[in-house]
Amino acid sequence: MNSSICSRHGQKHGIETIALCDHRNRCLLHARFHGWCGGGGNKIWITANDAEPEAAPELALLMGDLQRLTHKMALSANEGNGQLAAFYMHESLEQLKVIQKDSPEYEGQPVAVLIDRMALPAYEPFRQAAMAETPDKERMLTALDGVIQSCNQCHIATQHPLIKITRGTEVNPFNQSFKP
Ligand code: HEC
Repeated sequence: MNSSICSRHGQKHGIETIALCDHRNRCLLHARFHGWCGGGGNKIWITANDAEPEAAPELALLMGDLQRLTHKMALSANEGNGQLAAFYMHESLEQLKVIQKDSPEYEGQPVAVLIDRMALPAYEPFRQAAMAETPDKERMLTALDGVIQSCNQCHIATQHPLIKITRGTEVNPFNQSFKP
């Protein structure tokens, strides 16, 4: 890990606990904040109070990307386009990995663990449906519902039940064709 000292914590607050900065110069305890890490060390010193979560949009932004990929996956499935659906499935899985790495915990919620337990297993039936020799639209849509259910289950588990994901296949809002 290419780590460095978090200057905000180092300067502003006394020395009580230690945290690391990640390769993108973000304090690992505040994964959502950019620009606090600087210098050449591999540790930051923070006070216990600083370990409290603070409002920042980082996970929401990562989720927004995941939402777009999921939506395109749904539109592809709805067109019976297994190849394109599989493409967006792979992109979604990459994005989930990024989320696990960049935001493993959020407001005390074990995001990385929940992704392992809730989200990833839901993609397996979708993978099988999309990568079948002759992909079947209805089978893909049924498996898609499982993925969407896992999104919403995790939103409930992480105290965000107000965020409800749907298929969103009634209209194609993109300047892109999802037909095979
Ligand atoms: C680990 C549990 C978890 C999983 C799995 C998960 N989310 Fe989220 N999601 C969250 C949390 C927590 C937030 C709130 C983030 C915040 O408060 O900044 C969120 C926020 C969002 C938002 C609001 C951000 C925005 O841009 O409007 C959207 C949309 C979203 N998730 C979509 C999805 C989709 C689509 C999936 C499934 C493919 C998914 N999420 C899976 C936990 C999860």
